[in-house]
Amino acid sequence: MSNEPQPNNRRLALFPLPFQGHINPMHQLANILHTKGFKITIIHTRFNSPNQSNYPQFTFKSISDGLSESKNKNLNPDNPNSVINFLNKSCIDPLRDCLVKLQEEEPIACLISDALWHFSQSVADSLNLPRIVLRTSSMSCLLVYAALPLLNKNGFLIKTIFEEEEEEDEEPIPDLSPITEKDILEIFNDVDCKDGVLDLIFSMIKTTKAASGIIWNTFKELEEPAFSAITKDFCIPSFPIGPFHKYFPASSSSLLEQDRSVMSWLDLQPVRSVVYVSFGSIAQMGEAEFSNMAWGLAKSKQRFLWVVRPGSVFGSEWLQYLPQGFIEEVGERGCIVKWAPQQEVLAHGAIGVFWTHSGYNSTLESICEGVPMICSPYAYDHPIIARYVTDVWRVGVMLDKGKEEEIGKKVRSVIMEEEGSEMRQRSKFLQEKVNRSMKEGGSSYESLENLVDLIISL
Ligand code: UDX
Repeated sequence: MSNEPQPNNRRLALFPLPFQGHINPMHQLANILHTKGFKITIIHTRFNSPNQSNYPQFTFKSISDGLSESKNKNLNPDNPNSVINFLNKSCIDPLRDCLVKLQEEEPIACLISDALWHFSQSVADSLNLPRIVLRTSSMSCLLVYAALPLLNKNGFLIKTIFEEEEEEDEEPIPDLSPITEKDILEIFNDVDCKDGVLDLIFSMIKTTKAASGIIWNTFKELEEPAFSAITKDFCIPSFPIGPFHKYFPASSSSLLEQDRSVMSWLDLQPVRSVVYVSFGSIAQMGEAEFSNMAWGLAKSKQRFLWVVRPGSVFGSEWLQYLPQGFIEEVGERGCIVKWAPQQEVLAHGAIGVFWTHSGYNSTLESICEGVPMICSPYAYDHPIIARYVTDVWRVGVMLDKGKEEEIGKKVRSVIMEEEGSEMRQRSKFLQEKVNRSMKEGGSSYESLENLVDLIISL
């Protein structure tokens, strides 16, 4: 990209949501647009503020977020949904003040905001500033979210989410196939305030429709039907220009230090023999579930690299809930770290399968390396993504991580059996499609050109 002519040098303000799975793609997008000639200002909250020294080419503006000083009883600082809802209210004035100051210094072409910052649409409107959103998840997920109000109207959501009295249905919901009732319920897993999640989703959909465009960290060929439906239903241009990490790795925006020692451990393992286990930056689990995962991995008798994020098991610092006898049982066969250089890990030849929570960045990173997945969705967009991985792209299998016996079976079937090699072949096919989409004339390449044209025209 560096040899291309610089189309212009206008300033763009980018506003990432302060969570790892959102910070990574927004910083990657910033880098992509910077190589296209734009000057970049990142506006960020004090909470989870980025490591600026990794980005000397950008300017950074911090805004107050009110989190540390808040005594709001409705705020649960350990729950991302609660934090996001709080920040969507507390950041209104700070964002407006920041944008006014920036505009006084130098006019901004547009605000590029995470779609979950729904309040930023009215702030941008009040300043006559065009707003483009970055949606960090899949296109199909947005379509399912957009259908929730209709399901709500038909009484489905009220019945299944709030009353929880019926058996979960595993049949696809008409018009939303392959998504099932069970998948919809899982969106709302782990949240103490289900109304809060619905509010967030509804506000995100409404303000996304009011934006000047949507940027996607995906490639068109992966979700062609969803791309057409969104273009029709949302009536604004869509720019699937990803996967972003093919341009720039996510490592420089990592909030946790990546343990690089895993790479030399992987070098010692046979080709396609290792299960890589990671549930991203926000998923949490209970002690019993953690223990089942541990014994499931041990009994699979396969090699594994397991990322256990500090605090990811409720009430633990790190590994104190590992069951007794587990370390002795697995010996050299297992490696556990706090945080890994995930992109490099997935590209390593020793990896045979990725056991994931089906976060969108992780899913794309796995697809790009042709690694099949075992999907144990946690909440939010994960069940929708997992359903596409298993039923549409067919590069993974679903697994309930609470079932110890199932874990061993699924791990062995993907690493050692025909099922796994078929998924690997389909995954390689997707990998080739990604590579084509990024080349000149490919869909992501063209979308990026169109996005640059739109920004220039604003
Ligand atoms: C969340 C949602 O899950 C996701 O679907 C949404 O679109 C964005 O926010 P998260 O749960 O953290 O993010 O998962 P994921 O989207 O997979 O992002 C995790 C990121 O952290 C990936 O870029 C991954 O490479 C990185 N990572 C993960 C590491 O660098 N090291 C690790 O050990 C684990």
